[in-house]
Amino acid sequence: MISALQGAASTGAETELLDIRELDLPMYDPDADTPTEAATRLIESCHAADGMIWSSPMYQGTISGALKNALDWLHQLRDRDPPFLHDKVIGLISAAGGTQGLQAINTMEFPVRALRGWAVPYVVPVAAAARVFDTDGRIRDEAVALQLKTLGQEVVRVAGKFGSDDSLHRQAECARAAERVATVG
Ligand SMILES: Cc1cc2nc3c(=O)[nH]c(=O)nc-3n(C[C@H](O)[C@H](O)[C@H](O)COP(=O)(O)O)c2cc1C
Repeated sequence: MISALQGAASTGAETELLDIRELDLPMYDPDADTPTEAATRLIESCHAADGMIWSSPMYQGTISGALKNALDWLHQLRDRDPPFLHDKVIGLISAAGGTQGLQAINTMEFPVRALRGWAVPYVVPVAAAARVFDTDGRIRDEAVALQLKTLGQEVVRVAGKFGSDDSLHRQAECARAAERVATVG
């Protein structure tokens, strides 16, 4: 993830790393969904972002429960305008102990669509993760580091295209919000 964010930052993008393990989110409960401080941080960071990079370990052939729980918290964005992750661009990374990690990537594409985002076609399924990362999580395979940086750059490139399209709902809403502010002033 750090390599991908470095790629994004190299194009001038402002980046923020949200480590789900450190956030320590409570289990999302639709019947008791007042966000905690950590959940609010996640929700508002995602709402503010033009693009995102999601990374999951491959657990039992799919994504981690912790990532799925974090994505469930984004249900809180349902009443925003625009709702959910509308028109946000998302890059996907997985890390598998075995020989392929594409299943976790493919699984992440379902919530990307459900949350109304757009996944870039270029993905990085890291296989044999124990060989690629050292025990502190630092990357030791330069080829994979380059792929991750490229993914970060690609998310910024595509998010820039969305951002420059005035016809999109998000841009129209920004313009309306600016008009409202000007009227109040
Ligand atoms: C609960 C669990 C389930 C796993 N399931 C798979 C799996 O189905 N396929 C696979 O290739 N690796 C599997 N692994 C290995 C992890 O994908 C691999 O160790 C990865 O690097 C874990 O990242 P982490 O250290 O951030 O948890 C599993 C590991 C754990 C702990």
